Amino acid sequence: MPDPDFSGLRARIDSALGRALPDPDASPHRLHAAMRHAVLQGGKRMRPLLVYASGRLFGAGLDALDDAALAVELIHAYSLVHDDLPCMDDDALRRGQPTVHVAFDEATAVLAGDALQTLAFERLAQAPLDAETRVDLVAQLASASGAAGMCGGQALDLDATGKGGAISFDALKRLHALKTGALIRTAVRMGATCGGAGTDQRVPLDRFADALGLAFQVRDDILDIESDSATLGKTAGKDQAQAKATFPALIGMVASRCLLSDLAAMMDEALAEFGDDAAPLAALGRMAIERDR
Ligand code: IPE
Ligand code: IPE
Ligand code: MG
Ligand code: MG
Ligand code: MG
Repeated sequence: MPDPDFSGLRARIDSALGRALPDPDASPHRLHAAMRHAVLQGGKRMRPLLVYASGRLFGAGLDALDDAALAVELIHAYSLVHDDLPCMDDDALRRGQPTVHVAFDEATAVLAGDALQTLAFERLAQAPLDAETRVDLVAQLASASGAAGMCGGQALDLDATGKGGAISFDALKRLHALKTGALIRTAVRMGATCGGAGTDQRVPLDRFADALGLAFQVRDDILDIESDSATLGKTAGKDQAQAKATFPALIGMVASRCLLSDLAAMMDEALAEFGDDAAPLAALGRMAIERDR
């Protein structure tokens, strides 16, 4: 069924998330409400869409992809809850709503992030897939979100904050590749794993995902400067205010846009061998670069 704007798949993941999250009427109410607040307030659902697009490229059915899509979004939502905490980026607005520590309290935000993370792995462990695939998915997601992935990137981000440009181009690329790229690469890989992609096919797929991951964060850095809080659903201008290490801060806006064009070309080149079947992945790549929020 054609789904050019991904609205069908977005609705699918939204309803799966709603069902997977704990009952707001059950105790502990505050924790459950905070988890639901973190996940069900919109969000572009880019990472689950990548799982679906990559999985379908290799012939996986949607039912076989739901838990991987769910798990990667739960990890992403947890990372945002913790990213917004006062001890990290200290943000009050997320997806157009007060952040979890503002709407609830800081301790609840820490716990909600923790519980979203463990729910992600619980779902993968119980997915309707063979045991070997489930273990593979758990290992991939754990590695992408841990010290060698998202958490490691967040640590590098905090180290670089306030140091005003004192970071090399390569070090900033690594920071972005870990804090944002690792989860995006894993979303694409998890779909491929569910579809049984061969080793040869994973190489160009990784090239695509790595370019997309970097582009996604470069665009995020650009939007922080160019856009406004109402459009973004999060506070604009925060990176400069906190002297974050970003590409516009390091190389300027013009060079950052050139970098995005180069990354778009890399994505096209990486997907070329898959032909028209990769159109949904290519569309998500363009979305990462052209998005306005
Ligand atoms: C925001 O991610 C954090 C980054 C890694 C840049 P998204 O831009 O995907 O946020 P949502 O999920 O749409 O809210
Ligand atoms: C966050 O990067 C990446 C994560 C791992 C959550 P940012 O700090 O730039 O994300 P936003 O701008 O707050 O969404
Ligand atoms: Mg941050
Ligand atoms: Mg932030
Ligand atoms: Mg940002």
